[in-house]
Order: sequence, then structure tokens, then C-alpha cells
Amino acid sequence: MTRDPLHIKSTGSEFPLILGRDVSGVVMECGLNVSYFKPGDEVWAAVPPWKQGTLSEFVLASGNEISRKPQCLSHTQAASLPYVGLTTWSAMRQVGGLNQDNCSNKRVLIFGASGGVGTFAIQLMKAWGAHVTAVCSQDASELVKRLRADDVVDYKSGRVEEQLKKLPLFDFILDNIGGSTEKWAPELLKKWSGATYVSLVTPFLVNVDRLGVADGMLQTGVTIGAKAVKHLCKGIHYRWAFFAPSGVYLDEIADLVDAGKIQPVIDDVFSFSDVPKAFQKVEEGHARGKTVVNVTNKQTNK
Ligand SMILES: NC(=O)c1ccc[n+]([C@@H]2O[C@H](COP(=O)([O-])OP(=O)(O)OC[C@H]3O[C@@H](n4cnc5c(N)ncnc54)[C@H](OP(=O)(O)O)[C@@H]3O)[C@@H](O)[C@H]2O)c1
Repeated sequence: MTRDPLHIKSTGSEFPLILGRDVSGVVMECGLNVSYFKPGDEVWAAVPPWKQGTLSEFVLASGNEISRKPQCLSHTQAASLPYVGLTTWSAMRQVGGLNQDNCSNKRVLIFGASGGVGTFAIQLMKAWGAHVTAVCSQDASELVKRLRADDVVDYKSGRVEEQLKKLPLFDFILDNIGGSTEKWAPELLKKWSGATYVSLVTPFLVNVDRLGVADGMLQTGVTIGAKAVKHLCKGIHYRWAFFAPSGVYLDEIADLVDAGKIQPVIDDVFSFSDVPKAFQKVEEGHARGKTVVNVTNKQTNK
């Protein structure tokens, strides 16, 4: 990771656009005000969407966005975790209020449990002692059980709603799917007990694209406000969550990784020359964890 002299004037808002949010690498140079890191440190990060991305040899990141990489992981493994880890942290810790001290008696339901966010979320909840019900397709059930999900429900069986209604009510739902799920799933939460539904699938970008920044943000605010009030009247909390970069939270995630409580779940690794193939794979869906691009080709192990 470095301040690349050739790209030093890049503000992140100009073309060519560099994609990719996750990075794991070595600090090459530090700004004058950076004292916590030094050249040679092995670090990981997820850079914010308003900056240029990470699919490049050198990445420019702020000191407060990076963290020391977990020692037990290779760079390829580490690069699979920051974006989904911080998104999950935002949804479950910051927005949902869950933490290591209040999860032991909680029942947590995760939709989209086999993807990047879902596989991280299962592990975080198990590390914090919650009971986890994972919703995924049947062929992913072995994976989510290996990650210690307690109950697994196959959404392709055609009876997912009925199957979930037979289970005891939940304290927390993480929705990685959105759409019609959101219409019936809040009913699965305990009423008037602080139970919370957090969705990561929001119309924010669609609204901004359709209506422009100001009107799009206004429309988004109205929608979330109306949904929050509607659900509050039914005795549950309804929230949206967004990825936010944070070196401090990555430090906490690194501790969980080094303690063996969270492991990378890597679907596939592509070399830099195969980036188009990597995007094609991601576009096809059906992720089982994360797809990683190895920019330097120095490591090919998962
Ligand atoms: N708000 C934010 O800042 C933010 C940040 C990151 C991600 N997100 C959103 O969060 C969602 C999850 O992200 P991700 O990175 O984990 O996606 P992902 O890696 O593509 O995983 C999605 C997973 O859901 C499974 N799936 C599809 N339909 C399903 C259904 N009806 N029920 C249960 N599982 C289903 C897919 O496998 P199968 O199709 O094989 O079942 C796949 O394993 C995405 O919609 C993404 O856009 C939002």
C-alpha cells in the first residue's frame, strides 16, 4: 500500500475508475502525520466508495481506514474479509446494537447466509454466543453448518416462510436479500422486546440514480422513516445499514480472526490478468463466500 507518485493527484472521483474495495498488503510510504504505521507493516483495509478502488498495484488509503492484518492469514486470505466484515459490523454491531456481551441468549436469523456477508455474519454471531438460523440454498448447507450455524433452512424448498414460522421467534434478523423477504420476515421477530430487523438491501443508490443526489436522498429518508415508524407500531425496530470504512473495527475483527473465531471463506481466487473473469463470476451470483483477486501473483494459496 502506498502513495503512488504517478497517481498522487487522483481524487477518486475521476476516470479511469478503479474498482475493488478490499486490500491486504504492505505499507510502502506514510504521510507526515501518520505515526501509527510505518513502511513494511502488513495491513488490511476496505476503502470507501468515494475513493479509487484497490484493484491496482498501489493503493492510497487514510491512516484511519487501515489496520494491522491478522497474523494467521496470507494476504490473499486477508483480502477476503474487510468489506464484508465491516458491512456486517455496521449492520449487527453499530446499527443492530449486538455485541459480545449481549448475544448469548439471542436468536439471530440470517438471510443470504452463504454469501460474503452471510458467511462472515454467521461466524461473528457464533463468536459472540448467539443462536444462528441460516437461510441459504440446500447445496450451501454443509458450508454454513461448518461455520457453526445452529439451524439451516433451504429457501429453495419452496416453503421457507412456513419452515421459519415453525421455529421460535427471533431477536434479530439480518436481511441480505431484500425484496419480498422484507414483506413477511419481520413477522418472525419477537414483539415489544427490542427485536431488530436490519436490511443491507436498500433503494439508496437506485433513488440517487433516478432522482439525483438531493431528491434521491430525500426520497430515501422518507422511505426509511416511514418503514421505521410502521414497524415500531408493530413492536419491532426496522433499520438499514451501510458499509463504513474503519481501521479501529478492523482491529477488533483481526483479533477475532487471530483467535480462530472467524475464518476467511474463499469461493475462488483470480490473477490480476483474469479480473474480467472474476467480475463475471461475481455477476453470476450464487457466491459461496468471497471472490479474491491476487494482484501481485506472489501467492496463489487460498
Ligand atoms: N448496504 C451496504 O453498504 C452493503 C454492503 C455490502 C453488501 N450489500 C448488499 O448485501 C447483500 C449481500 O451481499 P453479499 O456480498 O453477501 O452478496 P453475495 O456474496 O452475492 O451473496 C448472496 C448470497 O445469497 C444467496 N441467495 C440468493 N437468493 C437467496 C434467497 N432468496 N435466500 C437466501 N439466500 C439467497 C446466494 O446464493 P444462491 O443464489 O446460490 O442461493 C449468495 O450466496 C447484497 O444485496 C449486497 O448488495 C450492501
